[in-house]
Amino acid sequence: MSEKRVQAPLKTGEKIMFIVAGAFVVLAAIAFVAMLFIQSGEEKPMFDMKTHFELSETGLRGSESFRLNGCTTCHRALRNGTNMGRTAELDGVGSRRSVTWLEDFLAKPEETYGAVTVDHGPSPKRADYVAKITPEIRHDIAVFLSELISEQGSSTARLPPDGRSDFIDAMVKTWAPADWKVKYHDVRQESKMQDSYTQVAKPEEEH
Ligand code: HEC
Repeated sequence: MSEKRVQAPLKTGEKIMFIVAGAFVVLAAIAFVAMLFIQSGEEKPMFDMKTHFELSETGLRGSESFRLNGCTTCHRALRNGTNMGRTAELDGVGSRRSVTWLEDFLAKPEETYGAVTVDHGPSPKRADYVAKITPEIRHDIAVFLSELISEQGSSTARLPPDGRSDFIDAMVKTWAPADWKVKYHDVRQESKMQDSYTQVAKPEEEH
């Protein structure tokens, strides 16, 4: 007589696990459909655009060179390219860096950063070729990048949202070592100077 294998019935614990996992999937699907539905009815976009650009003729040429020179392999600008993190995100970089700084950085990355870099810099770094781009093209690209502006308070802006925030005050008080007050100045005090910022090359930057 051959014995027939019978599938063991699910245990109670297993059933509960499957039901809970299934409920998560169903809930996520419902929430996604609901979000699409609400979004389609809204007149305003769900998230405000905090970065913008207005390209000059040079800037336009620079944007072309930016693409042709493989910068989008590692960077993101005008919502194109990869998104590997904050440094790789160049939308809004014009609000943090001046044209001069950008041009200097592309030619002499480590000297301009004042620190060891990961990809820009001498061979065999992966972006070593950037420093060898002709000065004319480098200038176009720097102008293009300087025209990528972000509003104060956006994640790519140098300055946090205007106004005093109890939360930020509390964080600074809790986490910032006491000697930072002497060593660094509080960028929040610059808010009113923001318009003139892009003309000023900052010698030292926080990372
Ligand atoms: C292989 C990846 C890679 C490529 C290709 C690349 N970059 Fe970068 N880029 C980086 C990384 C990583 C950093 C951060 C500095 C570092 O460690 O090298 C950076 C930093 C920068 C910065 C400084 C941003 C800031 O505010 O600190 C600029 C500007 C920049 N890159 C422009 C360019 C341009 C223009 C090109 C194309 C000609 C390019 N990059 C190609 C990886 C890359």
